[in-house]
Amino acid sequence: MEVCTTADGLRRHVAGLRARCGRIAFVPTMGNLHAGHLRLVERARDHADAVIASIYVNPLQFGPHEDFAAYPRTPVADREQLDAGGCDLLFLPADEEVYPRGKAAQTFVEVPGLSDILCGEIRPGHFRGVTTVVNRLFNLVAPDVAFFGKKDYQQWLLIRLMVADLAMPVEVVGVETERAPDGLALSSRNAYLTAAERRVAPRLFAVLGALKDQTEHDGVVSPQALQQARMALEADGFRVDYLTVRRRADLALPVPADADLVVLAAAWLGRARLIDNVELVLAPGG
Ligand code: PAF
Repeated sequence: MEVCTTADGLRRHVAGLRARCGRIAFVPTMGNLHAGHLRLVERARDHADAVIASIYVNPLQFGPHEDFAAYPRTPVADREQLDAGGCDLLFLPADEEVYPRGKAAQTFVEVPGLSDILCGEIRPGHFRGVTTVVNRLFNLVAPDVAFFGKKDYQQWLLIRLMVADLAMPVEVVGVETERAPDGLALSSRNAYLTAAERRVAPRLFAVLGALKDQTEHDGVVSPQALQQARMALEADGFRVDYLTVRRRADLALPVPADADLVVLAAAWLGRARLIDNVELVLAPGG
């Protein structure tokens, strides 16, 4: 696996790959890789002739009181895993390569509306930081296809909207959430959980699953079921940022005709803010 740390170096390497390979896939990450990221690389391998990954803990997507400094950084292990996973090229830039005129002066890309709800409401500016960095990375890498985990459901939708709105020639593929055997969605932030919290953490997925089952059974999104699910999480010690059922296409509140829905939650357990989601379908006329 080649590694490059500068934007110019990246462009040269990409030009070389382009000359030799048909389709180029891209997997942007913030490092501290786990099996979920490696699944993205695996899917990328299946879809393309060459795989490029990036590791960059993007300061623009962290709020002033968030965990930018504490965010786990494991570059040596990450490189080994990417190499073993069949990645061809790793972009490992410093801030100056991503934001050459400085973070404050950087032109930004923002998808209005969807950036301001759910995680965007609780983390103002977060999604603007995400779409800005992904836009720049897409322009540097010029991939044919890019892979994102569906654990970050809202992020995945936003990237798709950005690509459509800006007519960017890249296909965006969402990959199912990778889970521990007990159901917990894999996330770098799981590292913040104590041993006792780690034992409780899978309850998030269990509660979302139960809410999905009940909603599918009832054929309607019930405020009582939502309230019970929230109380179940609170009883387990979670501090719930949101727990909601939304329309999959745009995360708007569903109207009765909507069938393709998703239950989404963000909840704190100690120092860890966990997010997860489960898709559900309401039967017609249910
Ligand atoms: O999902 C992530 O790891 C990040 O938000 C991303 C897409 C790499 C942008 O920094």
